[in-house]
Amino acid sequence: MIDETLSMSDEPVRAQQAQKMNDEGQTENVLRPQRLEDYIGQDEVKRNLSVFLPAAKKRNEPMEHVLLHGSPGLGKTTLAFILAREMGVQIRTTSGPAIERPGDLAALLTNLQPNDILFIDEIHRLRPAVEEILYSAMEDFCLDLVVGKGPSARSMRISLPKFSLIGATTKLSSISSPLRDRFGNVLKLEFYELVHIEEILKRSAAILNVKIDATGAKRLAESARRTPRVANRLLRRARDFAHVNDGETVTMDVVEKTLKLLGIDELGLDATDRKLLITIADKFKGGPVGLSTLSAATQEEEETVEDVYEPFLLQLGFLERTPRGRLLTEKVYHHLGLKLPNSML
Ligand code: ADE
Repeated sequence: MIDETLSMSDEPVRAQQAQKMNDEGQTENVLRPQRLEDYIGQDEVKRNLSVFLPAAKKRNEPMEHVLLHGSPGLGKTTLAFILAREMGVQIRTTSGPAIERPGDLAALLTNLQPNDILFIDEIHRLRPAVEEILYSAMEDFCLDLVVGKGPSARSMRISLPKFSLIGATTKLSSISSPLRDRFGNVLKLEFYELVHIEEILKRSAAILNVKIDATGAKRLAESARRTPRVANRLLRRARDFAHVNDGETVTMDVVEKTLKLLGIDELGLDATDRKLLITIADKFKGGPVGLSTLSAATQEEEETVEDVYEPFLLQLGFLERTPRGRLLTEKVYHHLGLKLPNSML
């Protein structure tokens, strides 16, 4: 009975949450640039692609396989869709964990049209049995499958249309070298320059039909962790704040009040970042502390700490990775107003 009441009252909340996530996902899609010329920042990657793409097109061949790596939210998926559009081909998307068996990968690959792109997000999470058959698919455009089990098992070779694979990962170090070596182009997405985040915010504001002034854009950019997905999310929250308060424009004042409400500081750090840093300072005397110990002490998943939080803290120069673990730098103590440990005095 209690369960039933809970699930009944819970349902609308879950439905609302799902709808909210969906709305956010949809706005995120609306904000994605469609062409390389509209993609702001990542100049090195764009320079590379401006040679690589026309060359493949001129030869009338599928693009060589591309591996995109970098922190979450920097635009790997956006770039994959842009590559498909620029090449004038279809793109099919999936993710490493979603491909459970070699047969699932076979189904995806055999349904491609010549020159199509297959996008595998989180490619570092492919199962070994799936990864293994991907090698011959990438190299020779054929699949070697084992059909059946035991003594009646037999192997089967299927030829595939020529396709391009785009793999995306937040963890290049988790990609095995046989897989990595099969990508003709390995591109790293860096954290964005501040001016590029400002430009992205102005572009997004125009698409979302919300006014943002120069001070608002600058202030928002400063707290956006050099990441377009974060910038666009903060812009939507600032827009909500402006609308609720009968304002039309996202100004510096609106941004500051929004960030305060969200518990985000002027460098873009949130409550979890602070918890991680303060834990290292207080419980581990500034480190070094190993990832699993830090994860247990903060009750944050190791993978989240490593892939989501740490990269930006490293970029800020707040953390250092040493062979013995994570180490705080002096900057953290100044930023958080903490007393410096004796070792730093
Ligand atoms: N929206 C998200 N990422 C972007 C980028 N790199 N350029 C333009 N708009 C974006």
